[in-house]
Parts: sequence; C-alpha cells; structure tokens
Amino acid sequence: MKHTTEVMITAEEIDQKLDILAEQINAHYADSDRLLMVGLLKGSVVFMADLCRRIKGHVEIDFMSVSSYGNAMSSSRDVKILKDVQSDIQGRDVLIVEDLIDSGNTLYKVRDMLLLREPKSLALCTLLDKPERREVDVPVDFIGFTIPDEFIVGYGIDYAEQYRNLPYIAKVVPLED
Ligand code: PRP
Ligand code: MN
Ligand code: MG
Repeated sequence: MKHTTEVMITAEEIDQKLDILAEQINAHYADSDRLLMVGLLKGSVVFMADLCRRIKGHVEIDFMSVSSYGNAMSSSRDVKILKDVQSDIQGRDVLIVEDLIDSGNTLYKVRDMLLLREPKSLALCTLLDKPERREVDVPVDFIGFTIPDEFIVGYGIDYAEQYRNLPYIAKVVPLED
C-alpha cells in the first residue's frame, strides 16, 4: 500500500508521559522489593527501554514473545507462546509492559497464562490504548495515551516490520495508487 506518515504524538510528548507513568508505577510499587517488568516482543522494546530506566529500586526485566492467530470458526483468537519469560514469576510482583492494546486478545491470554503461575501481583501497563477496538475486556492499570482507531506506527510499533525505529508515534495515511 502506498502511504505516507504523519506525526501524531511527538517524542517530547512521549517523554513527558513516561515521567507521569513512571511516577504512578514507582508509587504503586514503593513497597515492592523485586519488581519484574515483562515486555511483549517486539512492539514493547522501545517503551520498555525508556520506561524501565525511570523505575526506582530493584527492578528486573524479561520478555515474552507470543503470536496470535485467528480461529476461522470463531471470532476468538488463540495465543501461542513463541518465547517464554526466563524468570520464575511465582510470588513476584509482575508488570506486563505493552506498546498497544487493540482487540485486547493478546493481553487477555498472556494475563491468563501468567496468572496460573501464581505471581504475588500482576498488573498491566500500556503506552497506547485503542478502546474502540476492544473485543475482550482486560483490566489495564497504567495507560499512557488513549487514542482513536487510527493506523499507527513508530516507537516500537510496526507496519509490515517497518517504522519501529521512529522516535515518535505516527499515523499511516494511505495514498492514491
Ligand atoms: C501488536 C501490538 C500488541 C498487539 C495488540 O503486536 O504490539 O502487542 O498487536 O493487539 P491486540 O490487542 O489486538 O491483541 P503484534 O502482534 O503486531 O506483534 P509485534 O509486537 O511484534 O509487532
Ligand atoms: Mn506486540
Ligand atoms: Mg506488529
């Protein structure tokens, strides 16, 4: 598809929002001694890198890679673990770090899988939330920006694997032929 990109959220706006999110997260986990931040590959890597550097105290980071595939017979989606976390999360305070919540299917399934391992607590943080697209309800504890149903890229988010390196969030605008 021929397209162009238009800045939607600048690097400065993301920076300011990360300060606010980090303040909320630091307050929430003030009494936690071993917070584990779990990022979902690949979209979350840029956000994770910037967010974890603002978190105080003992913090560990880990990553998971999941793939969701549609089930032709129903609207539900299955999520397969391609790479699991290396950490044992039992009894730990776990914060899932996502770049974007769209249908909610990814986070819903990941949350279910991780809860079976009995963490001390499990919370969700997303930089971007598109509530209009939600298919399943998933409780989100920390949200950066609530955005309309636009096709976006940048700051970790891709379009056919491109644009993850943009330091800002951009809207993809289709062009005639
Ligand atoms: C994107 C995004 C979220 C997920 C949100 O990841 O980074 O992880 O989709 O969609 P959902 O709420 O409808 O489940 P994607 O599967 O494109 O993988 P990527 O992070 O490697 O780009
Ligand atoms: Mn993703
Ligand atoms: Mg993607």
